[in-house]
Amino acid sequence: MSLNHTMEALLSRRTIRAYRPEQISEEELAEILHAAKYAPSSHGLQARHFTVVQNKQLMNDMLSAALKNGAKFTPTHVPFYDAPTVIILSAPQASLYGREDCACAIMNIMLAAHEYGVGTCYICSALAGLRDEEIMKRLKLPDHYLPYGCVTVGYPNENAPDPKERRTDDINFIR
Ligand SMILES: Cc1cc2nc3c(=O)[nH]c(=O)nc-3n(C[C@H](O)[C@H](O)[C@H](O)COP(=O)(O)O)c2cc1C
Repeated sequence: MSLNHTMEALLSRRTIRAYRPEQISEEELAEILHAAKYAPSSHGLQARHFTVVQNKQLMNDMLSAALKNGAKFTPTHVPFYDAPTVIILSAPQASLYGREDCACAIMNIMLAAHEYGVGTCYICSALAGLRDEEIMKRLKLPDHYLPYGCVTVGYPNENAPDPKERRTDDINFIR
């Protein structure tokens, strides 16, 4: 069976954890953010915000803050994998579905990036750093917004391993 473009992208995207040092192009970044804005959002409110961080000092400080606030990383999974860009997703602290809105937008970012040969890694383990009081000030989030996740973005410097075998016990039908 031949795969259409969407299916091909869904099945071939892989998490990338090693990046080339050069920044992705402004055009690619703009396209990726454009696609992100078309992610579904609860009540269609688009109540999620994108903070594009391309500052290594801030990335290092977010990592230090995460460690200070209790985050634990395995040696092979230390964010942000030296990626040249990290996009932080935040949503109103009081919103019922902020986390879901951010997750949907991150999925669009990952798929749009993949289309341009740009690698990504969804990162939740650094949340304790993103939510650090001092870090949140430096992120200049809209008032009363809280980070729910982030995604590293950059040209891949590795071939991701083949995907794991898919589970066979995770679908049931009620007919
Ligand atoms: C909600 C969520 C949180 C994740 N957090 C991290 C993380 O903190 N660090 C990391 O290296 N990968 C993280 N990942 C990436 C997963 O480890 C990765 O998607 C998984 O191993 C499957 O690999 P694949 O994306 O290539 O299919 C996260 C993925 C999701 C969906």
